[in-house]
Amino acid sequence: MTSAPSDPAPNPRATAAEVDAALADTKLAQVLYHDWEAETYDEKWSISYDERCIDYARGRFDAVAAGDDLPYGRALELGCGTGFFLLNLMQSGVASSGSVTDLSPGMVKVALRNAENLGLDVDGRVADAETIPYDDNTFDLVVGHAVLHHIPDVEQALREVLRVLKPGGRFVFAGEPSTIGDFYARWLSRGTWALTTTVTRWSPLRSWRRPQAELDESSRAAALEAVVDIHTFDPRELADIARSAGATAVDTATEEFTAAMLGWPVRTFEAAVPPEKLGWGWARFAFGGWKRLTWLDEKVMRKIVPPQFFYNVVVTGRKA
Ligand SMILES: C[S@@+](CC[C@H](N)C(=O)[O-])C[C@H]1O[C@@H](n2cnc3c(N)ncnc32)[C@H](O)[C@@H]1O
Repeated sequence: MTSAPSDPAPNPRATAAEVDAALADTKLAQVLYHDWEAETYDEKWSISYDERCIDYARGRFDAVAAGDDLPYGRALELGCGTGFFLLNLMQSGVASSGSVTDLSPGMVKVALRNAENLGLDVDGRVADAETIPYDDNTFDLVVGHAVLHHIPDVEQALREVLRVLKPGGRFVFAGEPSTIGDFYARWLSRGTWALTTTVTRWSPLRSWRRPQAELDESSRAAALEAVVDIHTFDPRELADIARSAGATAVDTATEEFTAAMLGWPVRTFEAAVPPEKLGWGWARFAFGGWKRLTWLDEKVMRKIVPPQFFYNVVVTGRKA
């Protein structure tokens, strides 16, 4: 579990001047925003390294790559965050060794710590997906989750992915917001935030209000979030970008329609109220509801709702 010695150190406490500069510099914003949230990221997004998230990660992989000969040998993750996707895929038997990379030093540090705790064969580096610091033909598999929409030049990143893949190697990028899905998710989240922070001003509900300083910090984070979220994707256009980058056997899938319509308000509500107010009952409601709606999406909605209305896009392809 090593990180390159020349990698920059995490900067979890940005100055006001740095945040101002970041409003006009998307890559600086990525580093500040993700370094700031790295240590609390797993908790914020309910990320775990147990059966729940192993099944989730594997489901995203299998949506486009079921039937592959497993395990892949060496895998690379771009925009690894805390390692959610690759570490859980490795636990499910998708790859035997891995390299986690991210633009944010804080995220690489947490991902390596998580890998070490899980006893996985993983190294890591701070890396920009547009200029991947590995040799040609190094990896059997490249993966990413919720990262492409942060990268200014997606086609350049996919060209880099194909360069570092061995011939015949596969890439899988999951968890990308569709254009239509992002539209309804944002409005549902904004509505939930406004409603929750308004009704909790009312004295009988005051104990459900987070301290104003914390709410202000979340609002500042939301301002940076608007800078770091660069793209949304139409699945067909994303497939075209992958083909232009030189990929073969390109395919896409979309997932979560009603499940996303529950998931975004739930996550926003969780961010707006004191965490101690939400116990196991809430966790069971949120996860159970999401699972039931995922079933509804797969069994029913998929037959009647066009794919571009689903929230999550997965794209895969191979190096010729
Ligand atoms: C939304 S987070 C997702 C993290 C993790 N993959 C997950 O699903 O939990 C996006 C991650 O992409 C990273 N990122 C943003 N731009 C990047 C770039 N150009 N190259 C590499 N990583 C980048 C961010 O630092 C952040 O950790």
